[in-house]
Amino acid sequence: MVGTGLLDRVGELVHQREPHIMKLHVVSDSNVWPLYGDRLLACLTRAGFSSTFSVVQAGESSKSMTMAENVAGDVARAGLSRSDGLVALGGGVVGDLTGFIASLLYRGMKYIGLPTSFLAQVDSGVGGKTGVNASFGKNMLGTFHQPALVVADATVLKTLPAPRLLDGLAEAIKTAAVADAGLFASLQKTSLPITETEFVNISATCLKTKAMIVENDEKDLGQRMLLNYGHTLGHALEAAGDFLLLSHGEAVALGMRAFASLGEKMRISTPGTAGAINGLLDRHGLPDRVVGLSLQTVLEFAGLDKKSSKGQFKVVFIKQPGEGILLSLQAEEYRRIIEEAFALVVDNG
Ligand SMILES: NC(=O)c1ccc[n+]([C@@H]2O[C@H](COP(=O)([O-])OP(=O)(O)OC[C@H]3O[C@@H](n4cnc5c(N)ncnc54)[C@H](O)[C@@H]3O)[C@@H](O)[C@H]2O)c1
Repeated sequence: MVGTGLLDRVGELVHQREPHIMKLHVVSDSNVWPLYGDRLLACLTRAGFSSTFSVVQAGESSKSMTMAENVAGDVARAGLSRSDGLVALGGGVVGDLTGFIASLLYRGMKYIGLPTSFLAQVDSGVGGKTGVNASFGKNMLGTFHQPALVVADATVLKTLPAPRLLDGLAEAIKTAAVADAGLFASLQKTSLPITETEFVNISATCLKTKAMIVENDEKDLGQRMLLNYGHTLGHALEAAGDFLLLSHGEAVALGMRAFASLGEKMRISTPGTAGAINGLLDRHGLPDRVVGLSLQTVLEFAGLDKKSSKGQFKVVFIKQPGEGILLSLQAEEYRRIIEEAFALVVDNG
């Protein structure tokens, strides 16, 4: 459910959807809780729920096994049972962490998503991928566990820092590019600053499109991989810059640009596709170049360490705006493509 003013109606909405739940434990982070925690608790109390909460430090480091165990301990000590529920009030970090705990605690309990970042409202809030980071990689420990209800209130985006808005926009552009020509066309007419009504429309469309894709391929074995458009190179650039040089949205935007240009050069895309994608990213202020990353490091983060000369790699290109295509490449060709893509968006001169 997407709209405005929904945060003050969450209690009644949860009650309607899950009438058996008596207790709720809210998980939030140190930025979001001071802004919206009291309002949410008041609304849950009005609807007759008994509620408790855990607040984790804002940021990626809270997506850890240790934090999952700490928060699960809070839930158990608060006396919730398997038939009660968790609530994730926050961005993708809180959503992934809460979903992960909900999938494991008491062998699985319900959770409700209240995504507060634009990225979570257009992307991570639905789909049921949960997870935490491990010493051997990001999101390496995770489960598939669908939220019982997702309530995205666009009003809370007012307090979101501008760079985080761009992260969400990049994901919205990605969804439009691979699966939604109508959204692509409407984003071509949107300009910054985005109005509340536009936020609602973009989030509602993205969540609907993603939900449709996930319905056909929940476990990410086929069509869902289209949602990785821009991410193969994007993740590698983001990681090569130590997650400091580029934000997630900026890195994904560079990945989308590079693969749009390559797709046209390789005649996978109809002429004009790269121009349309680049134009949309320009319109929303997403970067076209980054300076100072090493090719070797990017290749390694793209899965091409010195040992990996075998195997198949999946990459996403765009046939035309609104239609992605997933290709399976041998390591040698994949390496050549990543090298070309790197040269298109990284400036080392
Ligand atoms: N599960 C999935 O399908 C999926 C998909 C994409 C990304 N992710 C994950 O999502 C995470 C990134 O999500 P994110 O960008 O939302 O990060 P985040 O949760 O760290 O939120 C970004 C920042 O914005 C703050 N914030 C959030 N909402 C706010 C609001 N309304 N007002 C003020 N501040 C607010 C947060 O405290 C944080 O500092 C990553 O861990 C990524 O792996 C998951």
